[in-house]
Amino acid sequence: MTYHINVIDHEGSPHKIEATVGFSIMEIIRDAGLDIEAICGGCCACATCHCYVDENWLEKISKADDDEESMLDQAMDIKKNSRLSCQIPFTEELNGITLTLAPKF
Ligand code: FES
Repeated sequence: MTYHINVIDHEGSPHKIEATVGFSIMEIIRDAGLDIEAICGGCCACATCHCYVDENWLEKISKADDDEESMLDQAMDIKKNSRLSCQIPFTEELNGITLTLAPKF
């Protein structure tokens, strides 16, 4: 069984990316070669992995913890569906999830 996620890049182009359970969404996007900075490497310390989660999928992912919330407070262009993609572990329940990369800052 292969899984995938859908990612809209900074130009608005959609990408269907193969996803592996156990990796974070950020790692999956980065390893596919898309333009995500993820400067801190997934330590919840930079907010450059900021993305917008499609509204239909929001309730399927665990809520942001305090560390993620405080880092999101420092990010630009925050929306109510903003998340740090390094803090979302990919699970089989998220097969087909759609995310949009937030603008770079
Ligand atoms: S990669 Fe730095 S906060 Fe996600």
